[in-house]
Amino acid sequence: MSRKIWVLDTTLRDGEQVPGAKLNVQQKVEFARQLQQLHVDMIEAGFPASSAGDFQAVQEIARTVGRGISVTALARAVKNDIDSVYESIKLAENPFIHIVLGTSNIHVEKKFSRSRDAVLEMGVDAVKYARTLLPEVQYSTEDASRSEFEYLWRTIEAVVKAGATIINIPDTVGYAVPEEFGELIRKIHERLKNLNDRVMLSVHCHNDLGMATANTLSAIKNGAEKVECTINGLGERAGNTSLEEIAMALKVRESFYQSHTDLNLKEIMRTSRLLTYLTGLDVQVNKAITGENAFAHSSGIHQDGLLKNKEVYEIMSPEDVGVESMELVLTARSGRHAFKHVMEKLGFYAGSTDEFEGLFAAFLRMADDKKEVYDHDVFALLSAARKQS
Ligand code: KIV
Ligand code: ZN
Repeated sequence: MSRKIWVLDTTLRDGEQVPGAKLNVQQKVEFARQLQQLHVDMIEAGFPASSAGDFQAVQEIARTVGRGISVTALARAVKNDIDSVYESIKLAENPFIHIVLGTSNIHVEKKFSRSRDAVLEMGVDAVKYARTLLPEVQYSTEDASRSEFEYLWRTIEAVVKAGATIINIPDTVGYAVPEEFGELIRKIHERLKNLNDRVMLSVHCHNDLGMATANTLSAIKNGAEKVECTINGLGERAGNTSLEEIAMALKVRESFYQSHTDLNLKEIMRTSRLLTYLTGLDVQVNKAITGENAFAHSSGIHQDGLLKNKEVYEIMSPEDVGVESMELVLTARSGRHAFKHVMEKLGFYAGSTDEFEGLFAAFLRMADDKKEVYDHDVFALLSAARKQS
């Protein structure tokens, strides 16, 4: 039996911490709406205590997309942060508070300069306080993969008894490897089940060693029910687990993982491109699933094999993730309709009439020059126009 894996998208919180990825309130709401089309289960909308702008964005997202999707935001284990989260998400239908506090020796000794017991007590107090505000509270044991196991477990046990309903295990610095991370999750899952089987076990991985997706899948195999991801793997340093990779790994290898997501896979490419458009941060061309070359076959042998039968070299089809397999090649004779079609396919929105006419004129100049205009040309043209505006 295939079990459902809950997907939390943290592009607007962890992803937005990346230098150069700053979005304004309107852009964040636009992206959150697209996450709704993608059918993610939960959105982490920001870190409201960090600035008035972040607070406003989280509030606006909770108000506009918080029907049918759970909305959360991040708080450190202090009252002021928890209040900010509560005030910003309370209009959503299913809001929950996300509290983070370190469990590794490095965090306890170097970041907090307190005893382990004192840090643990801070976490317990924070959860108890958050539960006076909302019935759902997620607790993240920051740097869990570098924590001493018995202290990590003692923390989990205490915060669950204090009322935490989701336990999130982060590989904060991307230090874990799949076998070891899977084993950590197996041990926690085993004990958690006996402690309180209604508590959801979640994971949050970073990609410093390029293993965020592998670690997340290993966690799923070992009992994790919820995964935290970002679109295009955007996030601190080398980024977070990429949502599209988890989504497609579970789709293509569902029988191996005995797990699936409820994501609307056909919205993957549109979401990826919208993020590129809004942040100006390009996706590497050979990135799995969302890279420009992810479904391109250039070698003669491969093209020949594909023409005989797609399955010879394709484990999933581009249409599965919303890529139209037939590319429309535009020319100077193409009209506004065709140009707008390509624009929207690439995740760009037409905007005002003046803006659109300006872009269409730029396209015609390009078409006169190049004769044939491909999707990647349109993408470059629109990205450059956006950077100038
Ligand atoms: O990487 C991390 O530990 C985090 C937590 C807030 C979950 O982003
Ligand atoms: Zn993180």
